[in-house]
Amino acid sequence: VSGRLLGVGVGPGDPDQLTLKALAALRGADRVFVPATESSAGEQGRAERIVAAHLPTASLTRLAFSMRDRTRRPRRWDEAAAAIADVVGAGGTAAFATIGDPNVYSTFTYVAATVRRLVPEVELETIPGITAMQDLAARAGVVLSEGSEPLTLLPFSAAGQEALAEALDGEGTVVIYKGGARLAGLLDAIRAAGRLDVAVCGQDVGLGDERIGAAGSFDGTAGYMSTIVVPARRTAGRGEKL
Ligand SMILES: C[S@@+](CC[C@H](N)C(=O)[O-])C[C@H]1O[C@@H](n2cnc3c(N)ncnc32)[C@H](O)[C@@H]1O
Repeated sequence: VSGRLLGVGVGPGDPDQLTLKALAALRGADRVFVPATESSAGEQGRAERIVAAHLPTASLTRLAFSMRDRTRRPRRWDEAAAAIADVVGAGGTAAFATIGDPNVYSTFTYVAATVRRLVPEVELETIPGITAMQDLAARAGVVLSEGSEPLTLLPFSAAGQEALAEALDGEGTVVIYKGGARLAGLLDAIRAAGRLDVAVCGQDVGLGDERIGAAGSFDGTAGYMSTIVVPARRTAGRGEKL
């Protein structure tokens, strides 16, 4: 019998944003794995906090990941995959909870690929989750796209200045992930494109200490868990971009 591995998106932070499908998958799994940061051992991770609002914490298994140390990262993926392979190799169903959506910049992608190498017959499935970008748009009252406008999602860390400047040069909405720690440089680029007045930033969206506001009001620093939305240039009248 082949086991199953489900990548379950649990939303950006608010436990109420876990979908019914995700909840059923978590409840029905033989083992539920949640990521934890190795540097903050003993602390509940974000995904775990969301899941723990719905399931008994004792039923959750933590997997340690290394966020900062690049050399340790692959080893942690291997260890996580081995623990999951124990479950799916025996024909069981493992669920891996991941914040937001499992197909958007998620560790699940690497873990799943490694599990597949260990247990080639594993059935892989993902369950979508609400992303930080969607929650921020809703909370900040920003329309992400309308009519023919493109919507660009960039990670600031890897894309760097050039890709960002190119996207900001266009007409559409630009969403930036992973840019909180270098917010000052990010805001400079948005200002240079003449779009700072409409840009919004959300830090820890959906959590108790969230902060949502004009990007310019964040004085140059925000945490890693921050998302910036630069809404499309909209001068046309209603529906004119259709
Ligand atoms: C590794 S990616 C995870 C993305 C996630 N899988 C998703 O679908 O939204 C981490 C980035 O997601 C964004 N993010 C995730 N959760 C967030 C939250 N609660 N508030 C603000 N930004 C968040 C931040 O830009 C952060 O740097």
